[in-house]
Amino acid sequence: MIGNYVICAAIACFSFVWLWSYRKYNYWKDRGIPYDKPYFFFGNIGFIMRRSVWDYCFELRKRHPTDYVGIFLGWKPTLMVQTPELARQILKKDFEYFQDRSVNSNPTDHLGCLNLFTGNNPLWKNVRNEITPMFTPLRLKAITELMNFNAKELVVRVKQEYINNKNTVNLKQLFSMYVSDTVAYSVFGIRVSVLNNQNSPLWYITKHMVKWTFWRGFKFISIFVLPAVAVVLRVQFFSEEAANYLKMLFWNVVEERKKTENVHYKDLVSQLLSLREKLELPVGTDSKLVDEILVAQAAAFIFGSVETSSSALSYCLHELAYHPEEQAKLYNEIEMAVKESGEDILDYNKLLELKYMTICINETLRKYPPLGYLDRVCLKEYKLNDHVTIEKGNPVFVNVLAIHYNEKYYPEPMEWRPERFSSYSETDNFDYTFIPFGEGPRICIGKRYGMMQMRAALSQLILKYKVEPAVPYPVTTDPNSYLLAPKNISVKFIER
Ligand code: HEM
Repeated sequence: MIGNYVICAAIACFSFVWLWSYRKYNYWKDRGIPYDKPYFFFGNIGFIMRRSVWDYCFELRKRHPTDYVGIFLGWKPTLMVQTPELARQILKKDFEYFQDRSVNSNPTDHLGCLNLFTGNNPLWKNVRNEITPMFTPLRLKAITELMNFNAKELVVRVKQEYINNKNTVNLKQLFSMYVSDTVAYSVFGIRVSVLNNQNSPLWYITKHMVKWTFWRGFKFISIFVLPAVAVVLRVQFFSEEAANYLKMLFWNVVEERKKTENVHYKDLVSQLLSLREKLELPVGTDSKLVDEILVAQAAAFIFGSVETSSSALSYCLHELAYHPEEQAKLYNEIEMAVKESGEDILDYNKLLELKYMTICINETLRKYPPLGYLDRVCLKEYKLNDHVTIEKGNPVFVNVLAIHYNEKYYPEPMEWRPERFSSYSETDNFDYTFIPFGEGPRICIGKRYGMMQMRAALSQLILKYKVEPAVPYPVTTDPNSYLLAPKNISVKFIER
């Protein structure tokens, strides 16, 4: 008798789950919108940990070469748009509908959910306005001096570690060290060099970013594509150890500042301390939360900087190693600029003038944008066109790779050809066909900083060393990674 009840209950449960998922997974079909076939529970993210998110975005357009395609993040319907026109609509023209990202850590993880990348309005607008002055040309000019100083250390390290000692270079690690040294200064005003084997407090936090382990990949994927799971599992953006260390470092620097009140620092910490006075939060907000918001911005700055620039620099050297003609052109441009300037290192203005350098970086970012898609959530019902209405609460993604690899804009897109960008100018965004930094009001705040960081490193490395291939082409992506990360990437450095 009991056995019969158990069987009936099991059948009822099974039928309920089946009906529920049948209805859920017919969401796009019912609306006549092309969609990627979902699988039970995972929807379209069953690839997790076997292939990277980046690879999924790349393959999605091959399977669905349409203007938009429906996918399921678990059971959540999500629209992926794949044309520059729709990208413009979502990211800029109708921004009021798409001001926030869908990414979410758990609400108790303050560093994870209150930073500029993950934060929602009105906090986002408040913080963004306050931090933007960090990136004026004047500030960047000053930071470029330090980038150049660190790039010099980079050149020395290559000679000692990889040429003299004949070690194989792990490019991602090497560039993470370089970026980490620069961030230590731009965020905390600390001049240390892990490249020069100094004990860097920043490297303690950033060294974990070099490698994507299974667990780190899982955490990021749940935060970015399955926020409900991240909340239930109380997943944290940064490990507890790194978060505590970052907080300690931040407040130690603030305490030190109190001793030198007359000195005007130009780093992120000082910018954030002025934000503290102006932050408009609901009355009664715990002052501890305000402090957490400040540290969260430093965390976003570190993460945004290290993960992206180190991969982009690695891919750029890898492509240059396989393209000796382009490498020679770049070398000639740098050598000429150095001769003309009469200095052995190029300053901010001279680095900006390196046109061929800029188009080499652009082509690298076209082929290898660190984020495969841009993420927004629909805040109120939105009519995309006569056939598609996006419901409030549903995520909308822009498939960057669908646009960057579209033959219409980039013939033979698998080829690395800097000349594609010869007519590019800083003010021209190529009509949303080139969006490695995103677009619209939520465009990457560190775009100019990141570009300068890459120019400084490449100009000094290419001037001193010729690079040749050391690993097969193309490099595979790390399946555990949320952002694009090369699995093993290396070059041979040869002294000029
Ligand atoms: C190669 C270098 C970089 C690339 C390719 C890159 C790419 C991106 C992309 C695609 C976004 C999302 C934009 C959107 O959704 O429209 C973004 C946002 C962001 N990036 Fe970067 N980034 C780079 C360097 C940096 C650096 C150096 C920093 C810090 C100094 C930084 C900090 C941020 C922050 C804080 C956001 C969130 C902005 C907001 O929502 O208001 N990034 N980045």
